[in-house]
Amino acid sequence: MGCSVCLWLVVSFCRVWGMGRGTRETVLGTLGKATVLWIPQEFQDLTQRFGVAVWKRDTEDPHSKDVLLKYLDGNYTNYNPSQNRFHSSNFSLEILSTKRQDQRLYEYITSKDTEEKVWQIQLEVYEPVSDPDIQVLSWALANDSCTVTLNCTAARGDNVSYSWAGLEASTSSPCAHNGSLLHLSYHLNATSLACACTASNPVSSSAVTFNSSACSFEQRGSARPGPNLVLAVAVPIAVVLIFVGVFTAIHTAHGLKCFTRMLCFCDC
Ligand SMILES: *[C@@H]1O[C@H](CO)[C@@H](O)[C@H](O)[C@H]1NC(C)=O
Ligand SMILES: *[C@@H]1O[C@H](CO)[C@@H](O)[C@H](O)[C@H]1NC(C)=O
Ligand SMILES: *[C@@H]1O[C@H](CO)[C@@H](O)[C@H](O)[C@H]1NC(C)=O
Ligand SMILES: *[C@@H]1O[C@H](CO)[C@@H](O)[C@H](O)[C@H]1NC(C)=O
Ligand SMILES: *[C@@H]1O[C@H](CO)[C@@H](O)[C@H](O)[C@H]1NC(C)=O
Ligand SMILES: *[C@@H]1O[C@H](CO)[C@@H](O)[C@H](O)[C@H]1NC(C)=O
Ligand SMILES: *[C@@H]1O[C@H](CO)[C@@H](O)[C@H](O)[C@H]1NC(C)=O
Ligand SMILES: *[C@@H]1O[C@H](CO)[C@@H](O)[C@H](O)[C@H]1NC(C)=O
Repeated sequence: MGCSVCLWLVVSFCRVWGMGRGTRETVLGTLGKATVLWIPQEFQDLTQRFGVAVWKRDTEDPHSKDVLLKYLDGNYTNYNPSQNRFHSSNFSLEILSTKRQDQRLYEYITSKDTEEKVWQIQLEVYEPVSDPDIQVLSWALANDSCTVTLNCTAARGDNVSYSWAGLEASTSSPCAHNGSLLHLSYHLNATSLACACTASNPVSSSAVTFNSSACSFEQRGSARPGPNLVLAVAVPIAVVLIFVGVFTAIHTAHGLKCFTRMLCFCDC
């Protein structure tokens, strides 16, 4: 009882305080995607009643604003139809392809005579995160336990934060960690351990899994030259080099004579 009164007081205070500063909400936009700036039912009803409304946007200059759209008794003028679409059913303004420079304060104003109501929307624009990459920064084997340091990074995305978690639904996973760097230590009898790194920001998230077994690594994305690559590339090169060396040695005056005679033998 006492608590609900408290809550009511807090809510009322916030409302009054919010009204005093102009009603404002934050909308998150995704770079390159459409963003809808909608207005509450109360403002839709007022617009129906008043018949007059305008959508505006702040500019860098505090003394001027861009007028995006004017609405009058069911008709409207969209001053930027290639970038914005207006939905007259609910008076929402849709930004067709959100750009960084769209991150501004928007205002929806409906008025009649001496009365004016303003709804403010602060648009925040974020680039979505790309699939993260996991890099093995270091690893060591000691006393049958493996110690690895992993670095998880997403190439693109604004305000990205990283978290690690085990794939199995257990709270005490050795993978559980916040931040891009993970120091992981596990006993070798843990046949396989999988840790998922999630890169996220306010508009998106993406995860990749790191699988390890017996201190050997399989990575996704960032491929590093491993022992197989060394065998596949370095060994053939070494063999060719040795052959060239031997051939050059034979190719001295004497060697050349022998070689020509040998060739002749074959020809005749
Ligand atoms: C709305 O537009 C139509 C067609 O252009 C016009 O006939 C009508 O008078 C306009 N209504 C108002 C209130 O301006
Ligand atoms: C507003 O109306 C448009 C067109 O009818 C609709 O696509 C959109 O979802 C509506 N938005 C909201 C927030 O009601
Ligand atoms: C390995 O284990 C032995 C005995 O338990 C201990 O003395 C030694 O310090 C350990 N080495 C490492 C690198 O942890
Ligand atoms: C982790 O990777 C990012 C991106 O490649 C790099 O900027 C950062 O320095 C790395 N962290 C460490 C500790 O190596
Ligand atoms: C996002 O990052 C920018 C630049 O680092 C910073 O100014 C802004 O406050 C951050 N936004 C949030 C919501 O963390
Ligand atoms: C990571 O951060 C979240 C939110 O701040 C928190 O709830 C969670 O307990 C943290 N996890 C770890 C492993 O620190
Ligand atoms: C792995 O080895 C550790 C240390 O010897 C032991 O405590 C643990 O029970 C073993 N786990 C499994 C799955 O065998
Ligand atoms: C790691 O293991 C998980 C689950 O077994 C699997 O979905 C994922 O594809 C594996 N990733 C790699 C890089 O092998």
